[in-house]
Amino acid sequence: MNIAFIGFGKVAYTLSRLIQSQDIDFITSAENRSEGTMDLINKADIEVFDSFSDALKNADIVISAVTPSQAVGVARNYGKYCNGIYLDLNNISPDTTGKINDLVGNLVDGAIIGKIDSNNPTLYLSGENADELLFLNDFLNVKVISDKIGDASRLKLLRSTYTKSLSVLLIETYDLARKLDLGDEFFDTLSLTEGDDFRKKSLSRISNTLKSSKRKAEELEEILNYFDDDGLDMVKVALDKLRQF
Ligand SMILES: NC(=O)c1ccc[n+]([C@@H]2O[C@H](COP(=O)([O-])OP(=O)(O)OC[C@H]3O[C@@H](n4cnc5c(N)ncnc54)[C@H](OP(=O)(O)O)[C@@H]3O)[C@@H](O)[C@H]2O)c1
Repeated sequence: MNIAFIGFGKVAYTLSRLIQSQDIDFITSAENRSEGTMDLINKADIEVFDSFSDALKNADIVISAVTPSQAVGVARNYGKYCNGIYLDLNNISPDTTGKINDLVGNLVDGAIIGKIDSNNPTLYLSGENADELLFLNDFLNVKVISDKIGDASRLKLLRSTYTKSLSVLLIETYDLARKLDLGDEFFDTLSLTEGDDFRKKSLSRISNTLKSSKRKAEELEEILNYFDDDGLDMVKVALDKLRQF
């Protein structure tokens, strides 16, 4: 079986390392790609075609892992050459997934939960053909949630709604705890119920949120737009607060 990647960055490289089977060959193209991408392709030691159209014509499964802004463009340019499953793993909104569904046949909507190079990489999939990718469970965690395109993207958005808003609350409470000189004790008490690694995860979450508060605010705006403000009062307050960081 041939699996073709459109985009060969961190996601494609990591998947090519995780999915090791005598029955599976990875292919891609170097068409107009950067030096960094060429280095990763060479490191992965996979077959390289002159054009993405040639690579896709030879593929049973195509995985799109480009950048969110390019997801529709590559589907428009190359989707027609895909005769098998087209799995989109880009971090895109359910509306964008819908646009891609109009451009390619056999789309599977995919959402990477967390980081692909985490200890426990997990993919959530939806779409009528999603079950055909369950064999990937031999190599990473794969869950099919429904046969509806958009459900995987929607679930990822719901997850972000919760985690991004919660991060703001965490920053607010930790600030207060430190003002009262109880910062360490604050995490100690929470760790009793939230688990031993709560402090480490929280500090990393706080630092990420403060470092990229502008992007996180934009993501929350997108969430509010997509769900049409549907009762998301806490999210609106979190967004106001994020804009102040
Ligand atoms: N990394 C993660 O853990 C993670 C988690 C969740 C979701 N995602 C999503 O997965 C996707 C890939 O992420 P990544 O971390 O692998 O990104 P990355 O490391 O930045 O790699 C992106 C790759 O896409 C290529 N590319 C960009 N535009 C292209 C185009 N028009 N045609 C063909 N190739 C193109 C880039 O090539 P050049 O260098 O030549 O431009 C690069 O090889 C993103 O949409 C991201 O949001 C990633």
